[in-house]
Amino acid sequence: MTLNLIDKNVIQTCKFLLDALYLKHKQLYVDLFFYEKDVLFGDFSLEPLVLVGILQRQKNNKLRAQVQVFPMSGKFICTDFNYSLHRKRGKTFLTQKDGVWGILPEETPVMAKKVVVHRGDIVLDLATGSGMIAIFCADRAQRVIATDINPKAIHYARFNAILNGVDDKIDFRVGDLFSAVKGEKFDLIVWNGPTVAVPETSGKYPIYSDGGIDGISFTRRFVDSALDYLTPTGRLQWYDCAVGTEKMPVSMEYLQSQWNSKGLRVLYHSLTSDAVSLTKSFAIYEKYNLNQPSFKTPLSCQAVTKKEEEKWHVWLTSSGYTHFYYAFVEVRPATKFSLTFQFPDKDVRSDRYLTRFWLWMSYARIYRMLKWCEKL
Ligand SMILES: C[S@@+](CC[C@H](N)C(=O)[O-])C[C@H]1O[C@@H](n2cnc3c(N)ncnc32)[C@H](O)[C@@H]1O
Repeated sequence: MTLNLIDKNVIQTCKFLLDALYLKHKQLYVDLFFYEKDVLFGDFSLEPLVLVGILQRQKNNKLRAQVQVFPMSGKFICTDFNYSLHRKRGKTFLTQKDGVWGILPEETPVMAKKVVVHRGDIVLDLATGSGMIAIFCADRAQRVIATDINPKAIHYARFNAILNGVDDKIDFRVGDLFSAVKGEKFDLIVWNGPTVAVPETSGKYPIYSDGGIDGISFTRRFVDSALDYLTPTGRLQWYDCAVGTEKMPVSMEYLQSQWNSKGLRVLYHSLTSDAVSLTKSFAIYEKYNLNQPSFKTPLSCQAVTKKEEEKWHVWLTSSGYTHFYYAFVEVRPATKFSLTFQFPDKDVRSDRYLTRFWLWMSYARIYRMLKWCEKL
């Protein structure tokens, strides 16, 4: 694996170096950790970053980032580059089956900052990926358990917890959904899991994104057993992404059918001012790819056939699914069941149809996004 866990002191020294780089050499920081440029740096020694595998020295003595390092509120989170300049075949940027999910500003940082942790909470961060949410929860929680099905993600998350000095508060475990916490109860369960709706293929999508044909294969399993893992006053929060009809995401339809007799208050905070049209999204995506002959950024790690895509579109249409939904969901104990939808006047998510990745953003936009994350 890229990141070396051997020496805790060296990892913690890296935190000081990243701080100094980010504060005093912001453009160089972005060149390294957002644009993957090879850079020469002589102001102070970055050797510890090389030792732990964050940077690699090239033959010309320049340094190259091996992971993306996302800075937020004095913390630094290492992830894989979802799309890497150094992982291309021809014009196609390749995703990795076991890649550790990168940070998109309007997703993980929002969860990490907005999650409501009470002092003394025992928190479960499911599908932790790089561990960012768990690491921010650790500031207030008594203890955090963080799990992921991908051993590489747990390795990165452990590294990130040491880097940010919270490794003594977080217990990292590999496992599918709740399998690593059988019999345990939590005051708060949070997650941002695999929720992208994708065509049915035999494993052509990375583990981090494959939410099944409607985006809720993980969510459905979560709803089926989540309440068994909650204390009587326990709360839930997650990033919900699913297809749906014009009126309702399929995730909430399922949740309602399973939990309507439970004492729970469910708040659905949409990130867009209305449901997002599937037809429009697909058309924009296609046009974007046609207008972008110089490179391709498929979500899948193996080519998805036209037949697989068409089959999916037919399934969506015949099931009456015409829209995409993005939201944060909060669940609290209550006397009876209620589900409330809240749509903001203005989109919170700026990428309504296409996810924009860092490599293709200007410096100004990256600085703006980082500032936006700071203020969350
Ligand atoms: C979109 S990524 C988000 C990661 C992290 N929560 C974040 O916000 O950056 C989804 C994560 O879900 C994990 N995952 C996928 N299927 C899972 C399962 N069945 N059980 C546990 N984790 C799973 C993936 O390995 C990946 O780390």
